[in-house]
Amino acid sequence: MFSVTSQLIFVTLALGVATSPVIVVDRSPILSLPLKRVNNFTSGHDILARDLARVQLFRDRAKARATGQPVKRQSSEPVSNQVVSYVASVGVGDSDSQFQLVVDTGSSNTWVGANKPYNATSTSTNTGDAVFEFYGSGAFIGTEFIDRITLSSSLVINNQSIGVASDSEGFEDVDGILGIGPVDLTKGTVENVDTVPTVTDNLFAQGTIAQNLVAISFQPATTEDDNSGQLTFGGTDSSKFTGEITFVPKNGDYWGVTQTVTYGSTSILSNTNGIVDTGTTLILFEQTAFDAYVTATGAVLDETTGFLTITTSQFNALQNLNFNIGGTTFSLTPNAQIFPRSLNTAIGGNADDIYLIVGNLGPSGEESYNFVNGYAFLERFYSVFDTANNQVGIATTPFTNATTN
Ligand SMILES: *[C@@H]1O[C@H](CO)[C@@H](O)[C@H](O)[C@H]1NC(C)=O
Ligand SMILES: *[C@@H]1O[C@H](CO)[C@@H](O)[C@H](O)[C@H]1NC(C)=O
Ligand SMILES: *[C@@H]1O[C@H](CO)[C@@H](O)[C@H](O)[C@H]1NC(C)=O
Ligand SMILES: *[C@@H]1O[C@H](CO)[C@@H](O)[C@H](O)[C@H]1NC(C)=O
Repeated sequence: MFSVTSQLIFVTLALGVATSPVIVVDRSPILSLPLKRVNNFTSGHDILARDLARVQLFRDRAKARATGQPVKRQSSEPVSNQVVSYVASVGVGDSDSQFQLVVDTGSSNTWVGANKPYNATSTSTNTGDAVFEFYGSGAFIGTEFIDRITLSSSLVINNQSIGVASDSEGFEDVDGILGIGPVDLTKGTVENVDTVPTVTDNLFAQGTIAQNLVAISFQPATTEDDNSGQLTFGGTDSSKFTGEITFVPKNGDYWGVTQTVTYGSTSILSNTNGIVDTGTTLILFEQTAFDAYVTATGAVLDETTGFLTITTSQFNALQNLNFNIGGTTFSLTPNAQIFPRSLNTAIGGNADDIYLIVGNLGPSGEESYNFVNGYAFLERFYSVFDTANNQVGIATTPFTNATTN
């Protein structure tokens, strides 16, 4: 809707007050840390199951808040392990012991101990309060500690509340989570505490970063392991995006933004909240929108992988999938709509077939949870999660139009 500059001018002129423009950290690796992509799937069904479990959790949490009841997972629901994650190496304690933490915009507690044991050091304080959180891909229970977190030599957080897991499930290949979602998601997770400031909140409160926001850069994956992601605190990295960043107000409890989606000129979704989420792999549409996309592309569901598939001639005729956000159209090219061919066999597919990255969320549920922009979107667009101004920013990148796949 507004660019940062026009928003600043608007607010300044209209209200006579200054707001904080988003700071561009010019090529500053010091406020950034690299993210490594970790894949653990043997079938497209694993990816879809994990994505659907995550949205179910979003819905369950909303229901829990509305009724004042704690979130309960049905005991019949299997735990789906993390299948695709972006992981940062994070130092904890006085000796900076390194933990591999999943960077998650859809949850806000930071915790360790899923694999590598945490040992208290001179910077650690045990508060004795219990911590507990569910994820689409599992859960952990443990004790709250206050400790020092070292994200990089310039990004050190003193007195960060962390969970130390005594038990966890679904996190077999990582040590825990670096939660960079909105702080309200921490409500009710730590005994005797209302909300727990996130790592971003504390970096800002301690004067380490100039603005309370994080920005994420991913690139389309072509190999199973990939180290090209980047998480930047306190500003944006101009080398990672092109053009202007479009900022729009955040909706709801997650990093959701209102979007209108078209495939070519076919309407898919109109003014619908889409959750921009690093914890989801695909682009997920509720049934009606999914059906509209299937009809327009001619795709069929491939039982083996669980993904949509199209023929080569359908691929050649594929049109852009357009996301209109705040008046700017962000288009996923035909190439950006297909699962990386180099990973086809990793999802149980045929190397030469073409699979699509749009998944079916099923019948519409709670209003705010019918559409998710997962990695398939974030690998093509830069994203900014701006707590200070309660908004989300999206920009094109050098990879938006890449024919990587
Ligand atoms: C904690 O101590 C155990 C036992 O000495 C060791 O195996 C483990 O690696 C330590 N954890 C960290 C994070 O240093
Ligand atoms: C961290 O906590 C200690 C002990 O309570 C206190 O002395 C120190 O000032 C705190 N540091 C920050 C940055 O809050
Ligand atoms: C991958 O996920 C499976 C469960 O689906 C889990 O048992 C296994 O430990 C994970 N592999 C790695 C390397 O984490
Ligand atoms: C992508 O390609 C389209 C069509 O050629 C062009 O209009 C657009 O500016 C390109 N976007 C970027 C980010 O390069």
